[in-house]
This record gives sequence, C-alpha cells and structure tokens, in this order.
Amino acid sequence: MNTIHSTDNTGTVHTSETAGSPLAIGVLVGSLSSTSINRTLARGLAGLIGERARVAEIEIGDLPLYNADLDDTPPEPVRRFKREVLSVDGLIIATPEYNRTMSAVLKNAFEWGSRPYGESIWTGIPAGLVGASPGAIGTAMAQQHVRNVMSFLDMPTLAQPEVYLQFRPEVFTDDGRITDAGTRGFLAEWADRFVDHVRLHTGAGLVAAGS
Ligand code: FNR
Repeated sequence: MNTIHSTDNTGTVHTSETAGSPLAIGVLVGSLSSTSINRTLARGLAGLIGERARVAEIEIGDLPLYNADLDDTPPEPVRRFKREVLSVDGLIIATPEYNRTMSAVLKNAFEWGSRPYGESIWTGIPAGLVGASPGAIGTAMAQQHVRNVMSFLDMPTLAQPEVYLQFRPEVFTDDGRITDAGTRGFLAEWADRFVDHVRLHTGAGLVAAGS
C-alpha cells in the first residue's frame, strides 16, 4: 500500500491509499549473458517491489537485427515482443554499459518497438532505468544515452533517484536478496518511487482522497 496525503481548501489533510491490485511490470535486460549483473539487479528490484507488482522479464535476445524491410511482415519473435510490452503497466530497463553506451541488443529492441512509423509501442509507457557495472561510474554514460532514446520515444521515465550501481557480487544472493543494508535501502527507495511513478501514469488503483 502507498499512502498519499493531500490538503483541501479548508486546510483539512486527507489520506488516501493506492488499491491493492498488483501492477504488471516488464523488465528489459540489455544483456544476453547468462550471468548478467543487470539481470541480478533487476531481480533484486523485483524482490523489493514485492506484492505490489507481478514482475517478469520480456525476452529481447531472440529478436533479429532490425530491418525496415520487415516492418510490415515482422517475424514471430518481434510480434511476441510487441504483445508482451503492450500488456504491461510499466517497464524496468536494466542496461549494461558497453563501450560507454548501451548494448546493441537493447538498442535493437528499441528499434523494433518504434516501427512501423506512427505505430510505436513505447509511447506513454511509464518506465524506470537502472544499470550495473563493475566500474565506478556504474553505467552513468550508457544511461544518459538510454534516457535520450526513451525521451524521444515519449516514455515517461522516473528521473530520481538514479541507480548507477557499482556491482559487488557478494551483495546479491542467488535468490535475489540484497545483503548490504545501505544498498538495500537505496534500491528500496527506488522501488517505492518507481511503483508510485507507474501508478500515477496509469491511474492504476489510485483511490480518491477521503473516499
Ligand atoms: C564492457 N564493460 C564496460 N563497463 C563499463 O563500466 N563501461 C564500459 O564502457 C564497458 N564496456 C564494455 C564493453 C564490452 C563489449 C563488454 C563485454 C563489457 C564491462 C561491463 O560493465 C561488464 O561486462 C558487465 O558485467 C556487463 O553487464 P552484464 O552483461 O553482466 O549485465
């Protein structure tokens, strides 16, 4: 449950709560690695979101390289991908940083979803962007590039907090728990803000103040 406080013109403070129906959240992981640290991060976030959403990864590794010749006859993996993106309330995008930008596999998914011209699947989908790297800047450069794309594609994207995670394997257990209290608290704050962001943009489950 999320609690919202509002004040009416008599000065009375009202408290409202979001309804309990879980959101559907899709996760795009910009890595094909079976040991992806970005998938590990996304799993950790899913655990922190908990009962508030059903969180599931949407596969992008089976998409062929984008080809405009196929706009009107997309292969089955593209049609499956578009159906899945269109079925969710919001998206988490976990991006690695490859050579100071996003991976080709993530950019390829953006391309497919944005075409045919005028039929983009991305428009209006509330999203949150995170990334992990062993390096100290924690995907900061890649994320700025991804934000640029998401802005162009008209995806309302959570601005703060930013998650530039310098990944330490000992902090994440295999079942998605986060052992370090500082990291857990920081990511829990992100998860709370992300759920509110999706709810506000979808109108999902917001209950009128005082009702
Ligand atoms: C990297 N890596 C990397 N890291 C970084 O912080 N900045 C960078 O520019 C790059 N560049 C880069 C290029 C290529 C081709 C590879 C394969 C790797 C390291 C990268 O952060 C590390 O491999 C992560 O584990 C990638 O994330 P996933 O795939 O584990 O989620």
